[in-house]
Amino acid sequence: MSGIQDRSIIVTGSGSGIGHAAAILFAQKGAKLTLADRNASEGERVLEEVRAAGGTAQFVATDIADPAQVKAMVAKAVETYGRLDGAFNNAGIPNVGKRTHELEYSDWQRMIDINLSGTFYCIKHEVEEMLKTGGGAIVNTCSVAGLVNVPGTAEYTAAKHGVAGLTKAAAVDYGHDNIRINAIAPGTVYTELFVKACEVNPQLEEFCKGVHPIGRFSQPSEQAEAALWLLTDAASFVTGIIMPVDGGYTAV
Ligand SMILES: NC(=O)c1ccc[n+]([C@@H]2O[C@H](COP(=O)([O-])OP(=O)(O)OC[C@H]3O[C@@H](n4cnc5c(N)ncnc54)[C@H](O)[C@@H]3O)[C@@H](O)[C@H]2O)c1
Repeated sequence: MSGIQDRSIIVTGSGSGIGHAAAILFAQKGAKLTLADRNASEGERVLEEVRAAGGTAQFVATDIADPAQVKAMVAKAVETYGRLDGAFNNAGIPNVGKRTHELEYSDWQRMIDINLSGTFYCIKHEVEEMLKTGGGAIVNTCSVAGLVNVPGTAEYTAAKHGVAGLTKAAAVDYGHDNIRINAIAPGTVYTELFVKACEVNPQLEEFCKGVHPIGRFSQPSEQAEAALWLLTDAASFVTGIIMPVDGGYTAV
């Protein structure tokens, strides 16, 4: 028994990186997936990959910064599979590589709209459905930048600290409703997002190389495995945690 066999689960940011790895892993474990990404071509490509491997999935093009699109994404999951049991709210963008006073208002707003408000819209509409069917499990993708500062990423660090706070607050709100809400806090994962962050902040890669006691960056699949565990009943007494999956980054 895998723990998510036949469960209806949403994965956002499924077109790349950690979300892609989660889509592959969760499908292998027998979940019925609703994959979502604002990049429709990459989203469709991953959908084909999941289906070719025998997985059950649909793709809904979704910009998580738009509450109406998030509501429609959740509605599509329920329309297709009859209910919603779990969600991995993972979509996000990197920082723009400026010091705090150099950030444009628009840099700040875009980050908050996607990484923080987008996560809120997902939780809100997912919980509405889970309350109707007696429970569920939600995992948000936070970051080590939600637990400590990551130099040169003020707007990203602020948004991810917001995701950490939101995760704890929502977990407490729905503890009695059999809805568990947790987050993973990845260290550096070599994905598109990290490559883009390094393009605007050339010192970032060198900095990140030195701060993981385990001596390497994470594979996306290692993040997906942690999210999977939090979604299963193996984690039935775990709620409100921000779980570092960071090779020891925050232990130093
Ligand atoms: N890569 C790292 O080192 C690292 C570290 C800590 C946390 N994270 C977090 O992990 C999550 C996934 O990042 P990744 O590294 O896999 O990046 P990635 O760029 O490889 O994948 C992110 C995906 O999210 C999608 N996306 C971006 N904005 C969206 C929006 N508004 N609506 C819907 N989809 C959107 C992108 O199209 C992309 O497919 C993010 O929340 C990120 O902040 C990444």
